[in-house]
Amino acid sequence: MRVVIVSDYDSASKKAASIIAKEIRSKPNAILGLATGSTPLGTYKELIRMHKKENLDFSRVRTFNLDEYYGLAPNHPQSYHRFMEENLFSKVNIKAANVHIPDGLTKDVGAFCRRYEEKIRRSGGIDIQLLGIGRDGHLGFNEPGSSLGSRTRLKTLTEETVRDNARFFSKTEDVPRLAITMGVGTILDARKLILIATGEAKAEAVRASIEGSVTAQVTASALQLHPSVICVLDEAASQLLTKRDYYKYVEKIAESVESEARI
Ligand code: GLP
Repeated sequence: MRVVIVSDYDSASKKAASIIAKEIRSKPNAILGLATGSTPLGTYKELIRMHKKENLDFSRVRTFNLDEYYGLAPNHPQSYHRFMEENLFSKVNIKAANVHIPDGLTKDVGAFCRRYEEKIRRSGGIDIQLLGIGRDGHLGFNEPGSSLGSRTRLKTLTEETVRDNARFFSKTEDVPRLAITMGVGTILDARKLILIATGEAKAEAVRASIEGSVTAQVTASALQLHPSVICVLDEAASQLLTKRDYYKYVEKIAESVESEARI
């Protein structure tokens, strides 16, 4: 696991975007796993800038999003469909047919989730999955107790997650209690993973995920099982890591060594 600690949110966003851009440039038909929440906004902004100013081409890129609120229509202002459209897809040259986000209105959840998994498999699998982290250490909407082998399915959100996400809705009662999310097992199948975490509020979740035991109670701790993970943290999110100085030292030593294998 590579832990990169940068000064602030902007540097973390630029770092994550540069890794994704590198993937797209080396594989123009790359399959990206994408995330929502406030954390990846800066990364998307930087990718849009690279598309406009540096010819980053999304015309053959395919994407699969981690999750969607159950019960929200794609055009609902708080749906993850709308979020992705407004913050990335409408601003780059991606084809609508190449975008996949769980359908929050599906009538047959089980069949939909099986098809979503099948589509990921048939596309060749996700090359690089972008991840944020919830304050309880969740990835996607894999709340504490989610099996580390779980696949795409319906999950019940914890009260804490409902409260955290209420800031995007006019009132807490409007936040859906259920979501369709890729499972931890689905996420671990991606060839590379990038986790971005910034701000003090994420420090404990980051500590538990990177330096704690692997447990279904903190689903991001499953990242420790993956051979190719890069965690991009700002100073505030990294403050509880006991080996923080070592991670910084490793990056410094390795700066001169340009190797894909390090991710
Ligand atoms: C939601 C999303 C997660 C995201 C988390 C944190 O629960 N399903 O994918 O990581 O929020 O969001 P934020 O980046 O706004 O802190």
